[in-house]
Amino acid sequence: MNLLDGKVAVITGAASGMGLATAETFVEHGAKVVLADIQEERGSAAAARLGDSALFVRTDVTVAAQVESAIGAAVDTFGRLDVMFSNAGAAVDLSPIDDLSPEGLDRTLALNLHAHVAAHKYATRQFRAQGVPGSIITTGSVAALQAGWNGGAYSMAKAAVLALVRQTATENRGTGIRSNAILPGAVLTSIITDMFGVSREREEEFLTGIGDRIGGETLIGRAGRARDIAGAALFLASDLSAWITGVALPVDGGATAVTKDATVSIVTEFATDFNAGP
Ligand SMILES: NC(=O)c1ccc[n+]([C@@H]2O[C@H](COP(=O)([O-])OP(=O)(O)OC[C@H]3O[C@@H](n4cnc5c(N)ncnc54)[C@H](O)[C@@H]3O)[C@@H](O)[C@H]2O)c1
Repeated sequence: MNLLDGKVAVITGAASGMGLATAETFVEHGAKVVLADIQEERGSAAAARLGDSALFVRTDVTVAAQVESAIGAAVDTFGRLDVMFSNAGAAVDLSPIDDLSPEGLDRTLALNLHAHVAAHKYATRQFRAQGVPGSIITTGSVAALQAGWNGGAYSMAKAAVLALVRQTATENRGTGIRSNAILPGAVLTSIITDMFGVSREREEEFLTGIGDRIGGETLIGRAGRARDIAGAALFLASDLSAWITGVALPVDGGATAVTKDATVSIVTEFATDFNAGP
């Protein structure tokens, strides 16, 4: 069953990872897709593989005018916009708060917050101009809910995404324009490979090794893959989610649904010793 027949989507960060998997999934489901990314080689190659249903537009999402242009390209080439998947992101500055410079914070917010604001702004304007509402999806992170994932600046930006989504949903009350966030847990993509300077040639070997070690931290029992996020994006893009707006959906194998075992073990151990008496 094609869930996105006739729909047109813009996906940022579509040259790699979750954005790329989502572009592939959307095309499989009948959509036309603009792949927007700064990585020209990977982005153009992906669009070429996807054929006539895809177009690569070099886009630096930290420049709001380029986000607007990517949406313009979707309208010029495919006639309209139905789905804006604002997904590009990276940790940028991992400094602890007591060492975080204003510049480091600004650069992190430029990519992980301002770019999403631009996506919401120009997508909303396009939906209103064409008189047909659409779905905005933003890639947040479980770092919005828990500290300790990727530095304070990234966590603050991802937390602000929750407010952006709720605010946009509210401002578009009664219009059918929807905004929702996906909050991924640890997902095996190039973002991890790049953080540790591992080559593309050894990426899959590296990610499989990491996955084997961290899979047990989730309730599902395996680490996430980009296609897990693509599935959630497909749902939020499609009319199946027509009555869902202003929400943040964790897609994390259940990692944030349960407290860390360590805390429970410490309490249990202490209680056992305590009850055993001196
Ligand atoms: N992988 C994880 O564990 C994880 C967890 C939570 C959230 N996320 C979020 O998921 C999203 C996608 O990341 P991914 O894991 O697929 O990583 P990825 O590195 O595979 O993909 C990110 C893409 O964003 C692009 N990008 C970076 N800066 C850009 C810019 N200025 N303009 C346009 N494109 C730019 C990159 O070129 C890349 O193609 C990000 O927002 C990230 O913060 C990832």
